[in-house]
Amino acid sequence: MSAVDLYAVMGNPIGHSLSPAIHTQFAEQTDQALDYRAMLVPVDGLADAIARFRAEGGRGLNITVPFKQEAYTLADRLTPRAQRAGAVNTLCFTPGQSVLGDTTDGVGLLTDLQQNLGLTLAARRVLVLGAGGAARGVLQPLLEAAPEALVIANRTAQRAEQLARTFSEFGPIDGIGIDALGRQAAFDVLINATSTSLGGAALELPDHLAAPGAVAYDMVYGARPTPFLEWAAAHGADLCADGLGMLVEQAAESFLLWRGVRPQTAPVISRLRAQLRAPYA
Ligand code: ATR
Repeated sequence: MSAVDLYAVMGNPIGHSLSPAIHTQFAEQTDQALDYRAMLVPVDGLADAIARFRAEGGRGLNITVPFKQEAYTLADRLTPRAQRAGAVNTLCFTPGQSVLGDTTDGVGLLTDLQQNLGLTLAARRVLVLGAGGAARGVLQPLLEAAPEALVIANRTAQRAEQLARTFSEFGPIDGIGIDALGRQAAFDVLINATSTSLGGAALELPDHLAAPGAVAYDMVYGARPTPFLEWAAAHGADLCADGLGMLVEQAAESFLLWRGVRPQTAPVISRLRAQLRAPYA
């Protein structure tokens, strides 16, 4: 058993994960003694890896691609937000007790949008591109911020329509195909939750989509603007932001769940941003 409390992130791939750097900085900042690792898990080996980690005295896990939905099925108890998202990115192990599953992605995005970027969502027209796990995890908190309308647009229209039905009790939400975006009025906030930025591909979007002063947000982050953010900047968006802030904010919520203290995120975001840019400076 480890002398310090043991945590990890499990995913596949995991090599480029920033989570160990983020949680190590949180631990230093809040004087917590913990060891946080990145663990590569075979695609069919999540349950075994979790059981082994727990047997070694592990206290908590972050779960990332492609395991968030599977982790949801492995938790004994779920927070209401994880229940609705159908996904888990945080597991909390307490000796002798059941395994708690939570998702902090949605609150991470909202904290980044509202507090870090100073954005108001109330009475705005909000577009979410994509209807996979990443989109699903943020719909409820977005609707709770009271937008005038929230439209999910997806390559496969049916998945967007289904998600809109699932979340309709939380506010005005519509699901459409990306090819129907030409008939929509412009949006004030445009969020890319598709996996296209990971492959460097660009979405085909109509020219009028961003309203004057619009904000574009990509849940993916990197050293350079994603193709979606480059498109948005060229089509009238005033502010373009990638998902680094969301990543750090969701990590801070996990840390809070595990350790009972919420670390400061701004210095961690600044430091990681500088490190990401460094090879290109
Ligand atoms: P994640 O958990 O990251 O959301 P996912 O559940 O596989 O991953 O969902 C990927 C999302 O990106 C989906 O909305 C997918 O659209 P489909 O539902 O039509 O598959 C979207 N996506 C992936 N590649 C795309 C592409 N080349 N063009 C448009 N949308 C794409």
